[in-house]
Amino acid sequence: MIIRQETNNDHKEVFSVIESAFKEAEFADHNEQFLVERLRKSDAFIPELSMVAQIDRKIVGHILLTKLKIKNKSNEFDSLALAPVSVLPEFQGKGIGGKLIFESHKKAKELGYNSIILLGHEKYYPRFGYEQAEKYGIELPFDVPKENCMVIELVENGLKGVNGIVEYPKEFNK
Ligand SMILES: CC(C)(COP(=O)(O)OP(=O)(O)OC[C@H]1O[C@@H](n2cnc3c(N)ncnc32)[C@H](O)[C@@H]1OP(=O)(O)O)[C@@H](O)C(=O)NCCC(=O)NCCS
Repeated sequence: MIIRQETNNDHKEVFSVIESAFKEAEFADHNEQFLVERLRKSDAFIPELSMVAQIDRKIVGHILLTKLKIKNKSNEFDSLALAPVSVLPEFQGKGIGGKLIFESHKKAKELGYNSIILLGHEKYYPRFGYEQAEKYGIELPFDVPKENCMVIELVENGLKGVNGIVEYPKEFNK
């Protein structure tokens, strides 16, 4: 398996990977494939952080990290949203999602980002180093349990002095 940057030629296949991955997913609106299409056209898009997992010539997984802001009364900070991450159902549970997350962290760090924010399952993401956003005084703009609001520091003290409310790209609002 290789993990590489998505290219324009991959869009159709990635669309169906996301659609299939989320088909049976519990906490999903089943429109994640359209979210990715909107984000690709937005200012929040970073081409290097739309990545695919490929086995032979088949795309089996995808991950997208886009720009967001954390804002408080006096400051705003740059960070990234991890959303969504998708693995084809028949390839799940083999570590592909984990590899996509790991490689996206590595690339985000190379590009100079210090942190990532996500809304996700409290049992899955801590293994990659995610912690509750609340610990850092960071709030996500969703009415969801705090256990699901998570952040990771990509570098030591990457969130030092950073707190506030997360402002997602407007494309997340449909
Ligand atoms: C979430 C997802 C990307 C993980 O990819 P994967 O390749 O299956 O994951 P890995 O093989 O790296 O890790 C498997 C582990 O993740 C757990 N896991 C997988 N999906 C999970 C989910 N939605 N919630 C909680 N845990 C999950 C498995 O139980 C397994 O745990 P274990 O190692 O303790 O047995 C994939 O399952 C998927 O596409 N799911 C549907 C879409 C989705 O829910 N995406 C996440 C929201 S953005």
